[in-house]
Amino acid sequence: MPDHAAPHIVTELPGPRAQQLIALDQQYTSPSYTRDYPLVAERGEGAEIVDVDGNRFLDFTAGIAVCSTGHCHPEVVAVIVEQAQRLLHMSGTDFYYRPQAELARKLAELAPCGARNRVFFTNSGTESVEAAIKLARRHTSRSQFVAFRGAFHGRTLGSLSLTGSKAVQRRGFAPLLPGVTHIDYPNCRSCPQAGATAGCCLRGLDDLERAFSQTLPPEEVAAIICEPIQGEGGYLVPPPEFFVRLSEIARRHGILLIADEVQSGMGRTGKMFACEHFGFEPDIVTTAKGIASGLPLGAMIARHEIMDWPPGSHASTFGGNPVSCVAALKTIELLESGLMENAARQGTWLIETLRRRAASLPAIVDVRGIGLMIGVELAEPATGRPAPELRSRVVQAAFRRGLLLLGCGVSTIRLCPPLVIDQRQAETAVELLCQALEEASHE
Ligand SMILES: Cc1ncc(COP(=O)(O)O)c(C=O)c1O
Repeated sequence: MPDHAAPHIVTELPGPRAQQLIALDQQYTSPSYTRDYPLVAERGEGAEIVDVDGNRFLDFTAGIAVCSTGHCHPEVVAVIVEQAQRLLHMSGTDFYYRPQAELARKLAELAPCGARNRVFFTNSGTESVEAAIKLARRHTSRSQFVAFRGAFHGRTLGSLSLTGSKAVQRRGFAPLLPGVTHIDYPNCRSCPQAGATAGCCLRGLDDLERAFSQTLPPEEVAAIICEPIQGEGGYLVPPPEFFVRLSEIARRHGILLIADEVQSGMGRTGKMFACEHFGFEPDIVTTAKGIASGLPLGAMIARHEIMDWPPGSHASTFGGNPVSCVAALKTIELLESGLMENAARQGTWLIETLRRRAASLPAIVDVRGIGLMIGVELAEPATGRPAPELRSRVVQAAFRRGLLLLGCGVSTIRLCPPLVIDQRQAETAVELLCQALEEASHE
């Protein structure tokens, strides 16, 4: 057990050992990575990270929404060790093994796309999206896709074509997949009619219907891909009517609906998949991140009549690795036996508390989210304009206080802690975030 609960900062940041490692990393590692602050993680337990100099941090990033059951959950580690001693790899593409078949059954039962589903295994979010793109094209014999502005679906060339998040992610990589149309995602805060009229959030869908009659023959569209809660784009939660109208449009034109649950899925919102909050029933679901508590694994799940591709049409050497699969089975067991409930409870408390605190913090203009997928949007108090520099200063100030945060969207702080956080950790995070905001506002 730790002598001190996080946060407990004992050196300058970065400390001497961290500085050495950063220097090594910077010499040899791809400069494309984005490190917002110099955290050099050594080990983790629950919602705490200890760095190489012995500083303890409270982790409200979960390794970008991945370590759903907390860092190194002992039950997850135990099944990993046991499986690693039994069988490390055999390629589920060419052979059969129990953990992959059992996990496929579990995910097929859980996915919100239909009563009978099938599962294709991958190693990451982007591969799950690539698989969905290929399946949608093959099943429909159509070539075009519709995606949303602000969306993040990954960085390999197919999924990058659907990503509409930041220009830097696409700059220099053209030509991308042809035939992708981006439309507006509901963002009630940026909507000129916010608070005035219901329905204004559906502007993107109005544009889509206009495109269908002018520029984009709907019978050529294979699928519309949508994050049920937009993640990298700013933790935006659409109104329920968005999903009703989206589904109606897609059904009318025989277009498949892909729900990208890579960030929002696996219990983070208090339900296994965020779609369930809206009664949204897509045809295909992509997942990764939180599925195996930190081991690389992803899945593309589709209604069985849609996953009708023949042997050889798609496969992956490592996807569905047995060690990752047992970690996922244990993760799901833990989610179902209390962690999702905890995510819902702690998330509600955090959102309500942050909204109350925001009343006396003019830089906070919105607190939104479901469960432990929470966005705190900042703006310049004087002008009401987005405040990306302030956001960045807040994230840095929080790090110096021992709270790990990340940004998302233009001007939003994201809270995506492991789903194991307790009340004390939630209270500590709110205090440190508010202190960091005070400090950053006066810099
Ligand atoms: C919604 C969504 N889809 C896909 C991805 C890509 O996942 P990966 O980085 O595992 O390829 C991400 C990653 O942030 C994501 O948030």
